[in-house]
Amino acid sequence: MLRTAVLVSGGGTNLQAILDAKAAGQIPHTEISLVIASNSTAYALERAKKAGVPGCVVQKEKGETIEAYGERLLNVLRENQIDLCVLAGFLTILPANVIKAYDHRILNIHPSLIPSFCGKGFYGLKVHEAALNYGVKVTGATVHFVNEIPDGGEIIAQKAVYIQDGDTPEILQRRVMEEAEWKLLPAALEQVAQKLTEESLTK
Ligand code: GRF
Repeated sequence: MLRTAVLVSGGGTNLQAILDAKAAGQIPHTEISLVIASNSTAYALERAKKAGVPGCVVQKEKGETIEAYGERLLNVLRENQIDLCVLAGFLTILPANVIKAYDHRILNIHPSLIPSFCGKGFYGLKVHEAALNYGVKVTGATVHFVNEIPDGGEIIAQKAVYIQDGDTPEILQRRVMEEAEWKLLPAALEQVAQKLTEESLTK
């Protein structure tokens, strides 16, 4: 079975969705082997602990080069024999050495329909604020592979969510999570894991 690491920075509701889907037998082609947090206060670490998944913190130190940070991260991934990574609200930009080592093996979830409201500076509530300010009637979530362009990698799956009268960024953020992110991310993870498993069997 493929070994997946989930990288987190905050509350970890997307991590929870993955853990719940795993427990429900919906992600048979991968095991959730490790949770890596970018800071020690991420509540996602508690969720990992409750689910019996090992957690650790790999934080970019002040003054550390991005490459050196990447090497540390790679060491943790290699020590744990990680095949696949999922960025689930991970706020540190991944260094090129990590992206290269895990080409088409790192998934990210972004809370808009890429290419709208994505790229540098579009994270958290800012994404939903931008969608509401623009006046779009449909937004959603996107799961994509990570490459060197922020939110620019190949799209794996998308799900649309309608804007409603009276939406605030907070209300919209919650609806995008409930209707799109929490379903889309586990499903996309299974889709990628299944494909990689089939490819490795035919090699
Ligand atoms: C989600 O909106 C996700 O799309 C974005 O960051 C947020 C993470 O939330 N990349 P959580 O930590 O999974 O609750």
